[in-house]
Order: sequence, then C-alpha cells, then structure tokens
Amino acid sequence: MNEKIVIANWKMHGTRVSNHKLINDLLPALQGMDGVKVAICPPMPYLAQLADLLGDTTIALGAQNISERAQGAFTGEVSGQMLADLGCGYALVGHSERRSLYGETDAQVAMKFEAALRAGLIPVLCLGETIYQRRAGNTNAVIGSQLKAVLEQVGIEQLAKGVIAYEPVWAIGTGETASPEQAQAVHQHIRHSLAAKNPRLAARMPLLYGGSVKAENAAQLFAQKDIDGGLIGGASLDADAFGTICQAARI
Ligand code: 13P
Repeated sequence: MNEKIVIANWKMHGTRVSNHKLINDLLPALQGMDGVKVAICPPMPYLAQLADLLGDTTIALGAQNISERAQGAFTGEVSGQMLADLGCGYALVGHSERRSLYGETDAQVAMKFEAALRAGLIPVLCLGETIYQRRAGNTNAVIGSQLKAVLEQVGIEQLAKGVIAYEPVWAIGTGETASPEQAQAVHQHIRHSLAAKNPRLAARMPLLYGGSVKAENAAQLFAQKDIDGGLIGGASLDADAFGTICQAARI
C-alpha cells in the first residue's frame, strides 16, 4: 500500500489573521501523523506567510496553480521557480475550476505539469468528469483523454514523479461525494491505464480522491485499495474536520 497524502486546497479563502488561526488550531491535530504526508495550498499571496507558519513542521506547502512559462512578460502569472523559491513542494495543475472557469486546455495542463517538474515541484494533476459526461457513460473516456494529454507530453517516467487527483466535477463543493465504490472504480481504471505503460510505476503512483471529502466519509474512501489519500477543499478550512481527515489517512 502506498503512503497516504492529504492535500488542503484552500481555494480563494482566508486572510492573514484567519490563516494564522487555522494553522495554530490545526497543528495540534496533526501531531504524530507518521506515514501520512500533509500539504496545504493557500492562495498565492499567502504562500510566504504559510511558509513561515509551517517552517518547523512536517507539513508541506503547495500552490493552487502554476504558469506553464518559465519567466517573461506574462502579467499576473506565477512561475514554478517563484513557487519553489517561496518554499512550495507541490503545485496543483488542471483543477476543474481552472479548466472550466479559466479555459485551461488539456495541452496547457500538460505544459503546466512539465513546468512544475522543471522547477523541482511535485505536480498534482487533477482529472474529473462532469455529471453529464458520467450520465452518458463517458467517465473513463474523459479521464483517459485528460491523462493522455500529459502522458504524451512528458511520458510515464515523468508522470510518475507527480500525483494524480481524481476529482469528479459533480462532487466538488456540492456535498455530493462519490461513493467509495464509484471512486475506487475510477482509481482502478486510472491505475490500469498507467500499468499498460509501466506496471511498476503505476503501482506506486499516488492516486488521491477529491470532491466533498468530509470528516465523516474520509476513512471509508481512504480504505479503498486504489485511493492513496485526498485533495480537500471546503473541509480543509475547518481545523477539526481537516485534522480528522488527516487522521483517517493513518488507518
Ligand atoms: P470540496 O472538498 O470543497 O468539494 O473541493 C474539492 C476540491 O476541489 C479540492 O481541490
């Protein structure tokens, strides 16, 4: 079984004061988390604050997005090198909110994945289908084509340096979680697709589930064979809930 990874995606929430309180409340709940890697992705302007707050802890820092470019005249963008300079270890790429609200394409996501690796970051590749795609029976095809774009860009050896997060769009922020069986089925499909390229790397690839993970359902999801942890949105803003979710990953 792979080591579990739990990543908080704070999305566009927080202030300097509330971030400080959340981390102070969270640290006691995250004591003794041997065998679980925990990372927090705050909004970009707070990365430096979080780097300070997390400095002496084992909790890693991550970014919610990354530019596909290395540097230059790209107003508003943040490069991988800058993220690494700020102490990030992870960068989310291709979150469904970036894909649907900001028009990120599969090709752009693949370039972001590569940019993160180039900067020494661990890219967390987010994949997921909409409810219409699921109802039409296209879940595996959609996930497959999102994955293929990155595989074609970087190859299986480079892909395996990252993390994959399956986040069904219909489960994000809706309170409607994929059942452990639904999530496991997609995770198994992802692992099988990777195994066709390289079985050894596929077995070790961390596959996280995201989409309305809560304190109440985390343990059941994490108990599935191919679920290696979670990418947590709303519940990561609550110290008790996120602490319980991280503890659930230890079992
Ligand atoms: P929720 O946990 O709020 O559903 O968000 C999931 C998510 O998008 C994490 O990246």
